[in-house]
Amino acid sequence: MSDHYPVRPYAPPRLPVEEGLRRVRALFTSLDDRRSVRAFSAEKVPAECIEWAVRCANTAPSGAHLQPWRFVAVGDPAVRHRIRAAAEVEEKINYEGGRLTPEWRAALAPLGTDADKSYLDIAPWIVVCFAEKSVVRGDRLQKAYYVNESVGIACGLFIQALHTMGLATLTHTPNPMAFLTEILERPAHERPYILFPVGYPARGATVPDIVRKPLDAALTFFPPRAAQDPVPAGPKPGPPPPPPRPRPTPIAPV
Ligand SMILES: Cc1cc2nc3c(=O)[nH]c(=O)nc-3n(C[C@H](O)[C@H](O)[C@H](O)COP(=O)(O)O)c2cc1C
Repeated sequence: MSDHYPVRPYAPPRLPVEEGLRRVRALFTSLDDRRSVRAFSAEKVPAECIEWAVRCANTAPSGAHLQPWRFVAVGDPAVRHRIRAAAEVEEKINYEGGRLTPEWRAALAPLGTDADKSYLDIAPWIVVCFAEKSVVRGDRLQKAYYVNESVGIACGLFIQALHTMGLATLTHTPNPMAFLTEILERPAHERPYILFPVGYPARGATVPDIVRKPLDAALTFFPPRAAQDPVPAGPKPGPPPPPPRPRPTPIAPV
């Protein structure tokens, strides 16, 4: 018997390039609007929203399709409070006890973050993503491959799914995060990866006015684009990309 997966046809609709570009501009606008939020409303969020965000995360590609992630959703205020208290213990040592290097603290300084994690008590959900070093296969553990890469992609999809529903989150890493294994009673083959408070932004919430690096700092064509682009140079049909929003005093992203 073959140990391959059976195959099935895969034929997504072939979009005209212009239609593809129209859709990706809309996607870009949504992605670009997303911000990490540190001030949440206590307004309730149905568990179904969390389920849909994790369904989206669960579509991520993964090394050998081992899907080495586990999202643990906590709405219970008492458990959220335990997480907040434990996170603040670690973050006090990070911010005030010298565990972060001076260089790291300097990189964080423009964001104005500190050891106060009161938003973990306020946001109606905390969702912790655990990375599975091994995955359960029947009655044994199978080593997972490319765990960081796979879980990182899944978390990106999770974040964007929340944003699509008008929800906000923060990619929060109050390291070391072993307290999450203990509080959430997770097995030893799972490692806390990212903690996401989830909710609606607080009324009047603000975010640091950061600037995202320009495309040419994120993308290199090799050889240069002009030598490779099948579309001749010159004005392209369709609307231009959205202009950058005016920013008063740009601060480098951290
Ligand atoms: C892996 C990772 C860890 C992060 N950890 C924290 C954190 O512990 N606390 C925090 O306030 N922000 C944290 N952030 C959020 C970043 O500061 C934020 O993504 C960055 O400033 C860009 O802002 P934006 O998400 O609004 O685009 C983290 C982001 C990433 C990707």
